[in-house]
Amino acid sequence: MSITILGIESSCDDTSAAIIRDGKILSNIIAGQAVHRKYGGVVPELASRAHQSNIVPVVDVAIKEAGIDKNDLDAIAFTQAPGLLGSLLVGTSFAKGMAIALNIPIIAVNHLQAHVLALFAREQNDDTTPPGFPFLCLLVSGGHTQIILVEKPLEMRVLGTTIDDAAGEAFDKCAKVMGLPYPGGPVIDKLAQHGNPDAFRFAKPKIPDLNYSYSGFKTSFLYFLRDRVHENPGFIKENRNDLAASVQKIIIEILMDKFVKAIQQTDIKNIGIAGGVSANSELRKTIVETGKKYKLNTYLPKPKFTTDNAAMIAQVGYYKFPEKNFAPITIEPKARI
Ligand code: KG4
Ligand code: ZN
Repeated sequence: MSITILGIESSCDDTSAAIIRDGKILSNIIAGQAVHRKYGGVVPELASRAHQSNIVPVVDVAIKEAGIDKNDLDAIAFTQAPGLLGSLLVGTSFAKGMAIALNIPIIAVNHLQAHVLALFAREQNDDTTPPGFPFLCLLVSGGHTQIILVEKPLEMRVLGTTIDDAAGEAFDKCAKVMGLPYPGGPVIDKLAQHGNPDAFRFAKPKIPDLNYSYSGFKTSFLYFLRDRVHENPGFIKENRNDLAASVQKIIIEILMDKFVKAIQQTDIKNIGIAGGVSANSELRKTIVETGKKYKLNTYLPKPKFTTDNAAMIAQVGYYKFPEKNFAPITIEPKARI
């Protein structure tokens, strides 16, 4: 019997719906929210309003593009946590209402687990090999930076995490002080391709174990720019590409120092990356080189499954459905886990 699941993602500023059938992604529709751009970051109240207007058309298009009927659905998986509460509420309420109308179960999904399982998301004609178990995943997004040991699809252990800012946040905040638009990560990625990564050097944090910290670097970058701009008001404009490349280099170095330490400590054979920052072209190259150096199997998610998307939510639903791992209709979204 064929199993068809609708996935819904609404944890931050992307409204997304996807259909998975028997482990293959049939559609993955994402509506971004341009409304936040002029504020230089996500405004929670505006995000939940935009989800409200986007959710019905996004789900409708996902169903049509998949070539299915809503009555074919066996379950609805939705992001329950973590994220912005007002945003999560829209997806959660929609999933509940639709599930009641269709008399099918709902599946609650942890957004971070979904980012990791995006490494397993495959479209119809994609038969590439997914990661073997156990594997070590570097999860890098706008809200999280974690090293995760993945034993099985639904069995994961966090080995290290950031004690302050996430790597994506570091990209976004450095971009903001350089006067670049939000989200800054992809903009820095592009500019860095034309810059010298050794033009400017910044100090790395000294944090024990496998944990991360980005707030010290972020503050030192802010003071560095302030002093340089004081001497030369045109400093940022004249050095934009070199600044981007240097910032990107240090953010990746900080990520990789701990990830390599984790590889050595766990004696792992398979590694992967996930989350929005895993779209970064230099980080992707670096992970592949690291895999070669340590003779590991290396897995990268498809770029479209790196930033927030519902395909990854549907993918978790696909793993939970056979276990009848369903949520009660009274379940509430949670901002934190
Ligand atoms: O996973 P995601 O879409 O949302 C969260 O769950 O946080 O990640 C968004 C983050 C943002 O900080 C964004 O700047 C970053 O991912 N990002 C990138 C790139 N594409 C997205 N950072 C660096 N290089 C990129 N190409
Ligand atoms: Zn995310």
